[in-house]
Amino acid sequence: MNQDSLDLQENHQFEALIQGLIDQDYGCCNDFLSPNVVTGLLLNLGELNAQGVLKNAGIGVKETFHEDRTTRGDKINWIQNTSIDPFEVVYLRKMEKFISYLNKTCFTALTSYESHYSCYAKNSVYKRHIDQFKTEKGRQFSTVLYLNDHWKEEDGGCLSLYPKDKIPTNISPLGGRLVFFRSDEMEHEVRASTTRTRNSIAGWLKN
Ligand code: OGA
Ligand code: MN
Repeated sequence: MNQDSLDLQENHQFEALIQGLIDQDYGCCNDFLSPNVVTGLLLNLGELNAQGVLKNAGIGVKETFHEDRTTRGDKINWIQNTSIDPFEVVYLRKMEKFISYLNKTCFTALTSYESHYSCYAKNSVYKRHIDQFKTEKGRQFSTVLYLNDHWKEEDGGCLSLYPKDKIPTNISPLGGRLVFFRSDEMEHEVRASTTRTRNSIAGWLKN
């Protein structure tokens, strides 16, 4: 594909995510990144895990920050926005373009982005929550990019979304899939997988 058709495809993906948000309070886009990039990101996460770099994720921020493994069971590692890892660069560039697209078409005034790798061991969960903190309201939109190859329905590990006044929905964490929703409103929950580790990159578009 030449650059023009790549840009066109990218803009179609951004449009689909935004239209999903308008129609059903969340957007979901498969193949958001190419399989080789998703594999590269998954290998990065595996490497971080093997090196013992991943840290238990916490809940809350500043004074309220604490660990509670039964409420939130993932291990994380923050991605530096200045990373030179080739796969992270592709990911970060695309999120930057998405932010520009949102600012241009939806007047969102987003100014920054933060993201971390997330690894849920078998049977771990993240109970129902919203992503915006009560004391720090910078997070406007949440994104989750899944890194799991050959994920099957039976593996569980769904993301359950609870849109206000709408029917809840379950999304399987298929590799290459990106989910997008408002950080201040959308209640959501990570269900356990009883069969395998569940890998993703969670990110937040901020102002
Ligand atoms: C989070 C989160 C969802 C997922 O990290 O805040 O809700 O599907 N992640 O991994
Ligand atoms: Mn969340």
